[in-house]
Amino acid sequence: MPTTKTGGLAGVVAGQTAICTVGHAGNNLHYRGYSIFDLAEKASFEEVAYLLIDGKLPTVQQLSQYNEKLQSLRGLPKEVADLLKRIPAQANPMDVLRTVCSFVGTLEPEGANRSGQEVADRLLSLFPGALLYWYHYHLNGNSIALDIEAKSTAEYFLKLLHGPTWDMNSELGKLMVKTLDLSLILYAEHEFNASTFAARVCAATLSDFYSAITAAIGTLRGPLHGGANEAAMMLIQQYATPEAAEKGLLTKLQEKALIMGFGHRVYTTSDPRSEVIKKQAKALSEALGDKTLFAVSEKIEKIMWDEKKLFPNLDFYSASAYHFCGIPTSLFTPIFVIARLTGWAAHVLEQRANNKLIRPSAEYIGPEPVAFVSLKDRS
Ligand code: COA
Repeated sequence: MPTTKTGGLAGVVAGQTAICTVGHAGNNLHYRGYSIFDLAEKASFEEVAYLLIDGKLPTVQQLSQYNEKLQSLRGLPKEVADLLKRIPAQANPMDVLRTVCSFVGTLEPEGANRSGQEVADRLLSLFPGALLYWYHYHLNGNSIALDIEAKSTAEYFLKLLHGPTWDMNSELGKLMVKTLDLSLILYAEHEFNASTFAARVCAATLSDFYSAITAAIGTLRGPLHGGANEAAMMLIQQYATPEAAEKGLLTKLQEKALIMGFGHRVYTTSDPRSEVIKKQAKALSEALGDKTLFAVSEKIEKIMWDEKKLFPNLDFYSASAYHFCGIPTSLFTPIFVIARLTGWAAHVLEQRANNKLIRPSAEYIGPEPVAFVSLKDRS
């Protein structure tokens, strides 16, 4: 009988996909054949979302129609606004998105009048506003207006977060919007990662689109997956100087602690996304006159390489990049949801197009058959 020699299905090919390759062609990442470096340099997040979900890059007209559609779908149903007011202020923002996703599924169910692709568009448009409506309502009691003008998801998110007086046309504002847009591209898709696999398992039972996305959000929440960017920020903020970081890190490594934002199941020498986001974190650090956070981050990177030959994954420098954009740490993983929703949607549609129930077998390691002992005879 075949057995799983390594845990966690490492190296096991669990299905086919035409959406993404991880670690092929010189340790690169490709979405539908396009290098992540080209997409990061030349495309917007919405172009990438279209590419992933529709299968090909949009024309100028298609992109313009897609952007208009996304902007028109941002409205928050009153029922969702009421729900957001009742979700506790202390709730984990990932639970807020998971709940919103599930609840919208009861208000606007997928069916004959609403396709999976339409649900994907709606959730992509709705998530930033729902998250930040909840955030501001519980922070200062304001019900923020969501019908503001914003050409992209990144611009919309930052404008809602920072409020009407925030100057997105300053050099710093433009750099922040660019950084968030890039980050959404980098986070959009990553083959059979845990949350995408969860979405596919759910979709393969012929369940609905909302259920698949709700399962994916719950799976992304953990610190070994999406939650690593928040954990990385908490680590970096522990140290006031690179020297303190070196000392602290060496102690943690001696104690065999897991350092969040390092290592990867598939990449073995580096994560190509890390160099893109690191460049943005550096540019923001310089623009803001930061003397600590970026230097501490680089020191941690050096120690991890010298001591463990472990490299930063996308989460590590995303942490400081987001922090420099003024984004609270608790919203880091929800931003990952907004980005990865596009990859999840592409995978749910791909799974449905050639579906087979996903139901593997387990290697049994329990007791051999034994005689049943009735309740009264058990000591
Ligand atoms: N910090 C310290 N040690 C690490 C490490 C990290 N971030 N990542 C891996 N290692 C060590 C493991 O402890 C293990 O050591 P051992 O052989 O002495 O037991 C070895 O490297 C192999 O790691 P393993 O956990 O088997 O690899 P994996 O493929 O199961 O794990 C991750 C991949 C991503 C889960 C793992 O690297 C990790 O937990 N990273 C931190 C969380 C993170 O950043 N997640 C986001 C991923 S994009």
